[in-house]
Amino acid sequence: MSKKNVRNIDDIIIAERNRAFKEVDTSPESQFTKTLTWPVKCVVGPGLEGAIACESKVGYVNGSKGWLIYRGYNIFDLCIHSSFEEVSYLLLYGQLPAASEFSTFNKELKANRNIVRTIRLLMAFPVEKMNAMAGLRLGTNLMRQEFTYVDHEAYRPDFASNIYSDEDSIPMETVPRGESQAIYEFRYGQGIKKPRIIEDDLKHPASFETCYRLISGIPTLVGAISKIRSGSLPINSDPKLSHAGNLLYMITGRKPTSIEERIMDICLILHADHGMNASTFATMVVASTLSDIFFAAGAGIAALNGPLHGGANEKVLNMLKEIGSPSQVKSWYKDARRKKKKIMGFGHRVYKAYDPRARILAPLAEYLVKFKGDKELQNLFNIAQTLEKEVVGTLGVERKIFTNVDFYSGIVYTGLGIAPELFTPLFAVSRISGWTARVMEYLKANRIFRPRAIYSGEFNNKYKPINKRR
Ligand code: CMC
Repeated sequence: MSKKNVRNIDDIIIAERNRAFKEVDTSPESQFTKTLTWPVKCVVGPGLEGAIACESKVGYVNGSKGWLIYRGYNIFDLCIHSSFEEVSYLLLYGQLPAASEFSTFNKELKANRNIVRTIRLLMAFPVEKMNAMAGLRLGTNLMRQEFTYVDHEAYRPDFASNIYSDEDSIPMETVPRGESQAIYEFRYGQGIKKPRIIEDDLKHPASFETCYRLISGIPTLVGAISKIRSGSLPINSDPKLSHAGNLLYMITGRKPTSIEERIMDICLILHADHGMNASTFATMVVASTLSDIFFAAGAGIAALNGPLHGGANEKVLNMLKEIGSPSQVKSWYKDARRKKKKIMGFGHRVYKAYDPRARILAPLAEYLVKFKGDKELQNLFNIAQTLEKEVVGTLGVERKIFTNVDFYSGIVYTGLGIAPELFTPLFAVSRISGWTARVMEYLKANRIFRPRAIYSGEFNNKYKPINKRR
């Protein structure tokens, strides 16, 4: 692919940035951009709406205007000039790297792509039958195992001769079948040293090293899950490729074109951080207990899986397919409104304006669809555009419900040759940078998250024996 085409993508984003600067008042909201003195007074709605959880310098979402900032840089400029690797550095360390810092960081990221033991462990599970996000969550647990246990490999007892159970007849299985009472234990002695405590190796509770492992390891997991699900074997990463290029390569098995690589990179930048969203908060809650960052990332992945959060992009594609054609949009939408259905890809807890990420993704989707020349994808894009007009013209005007990041990302990912079940895992590939950056920042002055609930239940109930109940 020629450089000319790559420049076209820059032009698209530059045009969107210029339009956004004309349309959006970029001045920050004073109530959400100040140095805090605790305790803080705020009005809290259901779902902690309006609650202030912490102070952060990582990123800022201006929900009333539709503006997104990472460490002081607006998202448009980062998409035009930066890369996901550089943005990850920026989020983690608070400033753009100097050339030598970036080179070292990049080497670290590339070195941490190879998680061979984790992938081997993962392949012992029925990943092809699992939800891809479940596979990813399992994968982060196995990464924890690799990076906390790997050094003990030499000390591990040999299974065949050193495992015993309380029943002599039980065969040597790693997963006992039917012998639920059997307790397997390792026998130490005969020159086998007892392993050290696992947590010793975690640099407890988090280190930049473990952040790199997750930022690089999660794409490898997603690549492996993609391959296993399609019935083939995971492939090795390619150190010559960028983070985005390698991700596409590991998922599809094909070296991406520079256009595909650039679009993937922009998608990763766009999803890297987004304030105290549900998955970031879930990650931080776990980290605040001083559990480790692998467990914390697992919580983030679990939260991201939900259809109200990261799972919406897959649902958007299903919805567009269900609508079928642009001519069906009006009647489908009328029916959806009558049934009070939530339209996937619209609405946001924080944005009461057009999501700046969708501003970038919409023309990118259009560009990619034209570039691919795929009729089916073109039809989905036409449906999306028609539906967007309807929703923004009604819910947008009446209730400030606008297009969000998930509305066009599914079309972009489909254009990149990625299967729908991998859309939400891709969100995690990117958001891990925000999760880790915010955890590292919060741990500097950690306080366990512990809100309260108002008890509205009964008091003084008299205990009844089971045979006297209902
Ligand atoms: N379509 C139709 N009505 C909606 C929508 C929508 N997409 N979103 C909100 N509403 C209505 C909702 O029905 C409710 O109406 P009523 O007051 O009459 O009961 C009102 O707006 C408030 O809705 P809510 O669910 O209480 O709003 P929230 O701020 O708690 O939720 C949201 C935000 C993203 C969960 C919600 O807008 C939604 O479910 N959207 C669809 C799913 C989606 O696209 N999610 C991706 C979000 S962006 C990616 C990410 O950051 O995760």
